[in-house]
Amino acid sequence: MPVLRNIGSLARCLADGPQSELHEVRQAALAWDDARVLWAGPEADLPRSFRDMPAEDARGCLVVPGLVDCHTHLAFGGWRAGEFEQRLRGDTYQAIAARGGGILSTVAATRALDQAALVARCRGFLAAIGALGVTTVECKTGYGLDEATELRLLHVYDTLRREGPQRIVATLLAAHALPPEYRDRRGEYLRLVTERLIPQAASGGLAAFCDVFVEEGAFTPDEARTVLRAGLAAGLRPKLHVDQLGPGGGGELAAELGAVSADHLEHLSPAGIEAMARAGTVAVSLPLASLTLAQPPMPARRCLEAGVPVAVATDFNPGSAPSYHLPMVMSLACTLQRMTPAEVLKGVTIVAARALGMEDRVGSLEPGKLADFAVIDAPDVTHWLYHLRPNACRRTVVGGQTIWSVRAATPQPEVVP
Ligand code: NIG
Ligand code: FE
Repeated sequence: MPVLRNIGSLARCLADGPQSELHEVRQAALAWDDARVLWAGPEADLPRSFRDMPAEDARGCLVVPGLVDCHTHLAFGGWRAGEFEQRLRGDTYQAIAARGGGILSTVAATRALDQAALVARCRGFLAAIGALGVTTVECKTGYGLDEATELRLLHVYDTLRREGPQRIVATLLAAHALPPEYRDRRGEYLRLVTERLIPQAASGGLAAFCDVFVEEGAFTPDEARTVLRAGLAAGLRPKLHVDQLGPGGGGELAAELGAVSADHLEHLSPAGIEAMARAGTVAVSLPLASLTLAQPPMPARRCLEAGVPVAVATDFNPGSAPSYHLPMVMSLACTLQRMTPAEVLKGVTIVAARALGMEDRVGSLEPGKLADFAVIDAPDVTHWLYHLRPNACRRTVVGGQTIWSVRAATPQPEVVP
């Protein structure tokens, strides 16, 4: 039953209050057992029963709940650096996709990898992601687009979930693009998704969510209704990729379908914001994708003012967001979207947990919650996101177990102490 003492700032990130309220405690302590938080508060108030417990010294660092990356496309084959350069020369994401590049080129590279190769790639990503303080990762399929490969991706995530160390949440995104072999048979592909993939994803407990990419060149709102209603009937909760490249009524659609979250939303309309506020839908902002594809930033301030909670995530994928660096994306959410560092921290903790339906277990530091946290070399969250470094995280803990810590050989802390 360890106790972490001498915490300079403990950002508890409770669900109560506005997104800007971190429930911060200065000079704090945190106690946990094998899996859960037992106590969190001012060190001076540490109950007598914890005072004799083995103590660890946080040396004045910031401690935050384990970060939750609530939107990634973790498993894929290949990379698409060539497209990065094509876009810099003036090509558009849509034009590249229409030529068979984009998502479909990653589909070809992903189908070529077997399960072991995909697991090995993901393990490498997850190790680096864990070192950044990220303890929960949502992972989408969508680069298989045939029965065998979509299921292979779900099994990859199932393997990663079982072996840990992070918590893995899988989403079926079989409606990501129309696969080339179904070019003239849209209805048939949608039936494959609703009649074969959704039942298998749900019955095996392989996925928790179902997602659809609604956009010109991808799927229509009506097709999304069909897929997400079938998913819901099978027990998969709805999510949506919407309003990314142009306005498409995505906020309204997400509210109508009772989606847990609507993601991207660069072109979200005022009516969409109102609908999401009424429905309690979480807006998931993906500022790295906005920046990479030269889209306007998602209107995060207007969402927050209307009472729509805003989560922040990487969207890690080889096309629109080729980085899993969540702290860098947090800084982008500040500078591009004018979110405050406090709003962003809640956006990657308790609000991101809500976007995954896990807010009762992760996303805040309070007794009873899972002991997932990160120790950050910064006096507070503003300093952390302002002074962007390769990695300010000194230790990552999942369920009470340290999954990563700075070793003696790595550079000394530069901010605290
Ligand atoms: O979330 N918008 C759709 N899907 C991904 C991009 C996928 C890709 O380009 O490979 C996204 O941005
Ligand atoms: Fe995405």
